[in-house]
Amino acid sequence: MQKKELIYEGKAKRIYSTDQEACLLMEYKDSLTAFNALKKGQFLGKGELNCKISTLIFAELKKNGVNHHWLETSSGNEMLVQKTTIIPLEVVVRNIMAGSLAKKLGRTEGEVLKQPLVEFYYKDDHLADPFVSDDQITAMGWTDQATLDYLKKEALRINHVLQNMFLKAGLKLVDFKTEFGRNVKSEIILSDEISPDCMRLWDVKTNKKMDKDRFRQDLGEVEESYLEVYERLQKGVS
Ligand code: TMP
Ligand code: ASP
Repeated sequence: MQKKELIYEGKAKRIYSTDQEACLLMEYKDSLTAFNALKKGQFLGKGELNCKISTLIFAELKKNGVNHHWLETSSGNEMLVQKTTIIPLEVVVRNIMAGSLAKKLGRTEGEVLKQPLVEFYYKDDHLADPFVSDDQITAMGWTDQATLDYLKKEALRINHVLQNMFLKAGLKLVDFKTEFGRNVKSEIILSDEISPDCMRLWDVKTNKKMDKDRFRQDLGEVEESYLEVYERLQKGVS
């Protein structure tokens, strides 16, 4: 597979076309951003770590029958993925109270929710990805209710697989963000990356934060935590 033109550059990834029409190359960057890129950082090898973590996760999801865009990891920080047209929604799943939900509802972090919660946010950096209701989404014509119902069901199925996978690695899956797109066959599949950049992971015994909150909240040991997540997951699946 040949890497061709750069077609998109985001905060943490670059996307290239390849010599195959239905296939893209996703390159993970070493940069770290938070709060809609108001806070910026990086560490050497972060792209490769996130690519490896995403690879382990996509492999586990595949084993459990979840349809997604990952095809293979071609080198250290690069993976081949199916080309998709992204549905402009961030699909967030929460198991434990944290982050923006804790702030919005005036609750402390750590409360286990009565049931997993799926929320949609409209993907728009200029608007800082606002929360949107099902009715707002369908009224805007971004997608239909049947698709939203499917996304919720699929997000919960992914949550179930990931919760088990992380538990084996001694980590609680607090919440995570996913994105979905339509591939060339018009199938809706899980897209983007799944890494400690877009999830909250707490150690089961100590509740130590092991994800991008270490960077957001200046807790230190960002690099060490990402590495530990990778090493623990690797042990868990081997
Ligand atoms: P939140 O509590 O800030 O709404 O975030 C919920 C989850 O979604 C958390 O695991 C971080 C992830 N997330 C992203 O990956 N990208 C984003 O732009 C935001 C706001 C959250
Ligand atoms: N992912 C978003 C950003 O990079 C928001 C965040 O993670 O805090 O700006």
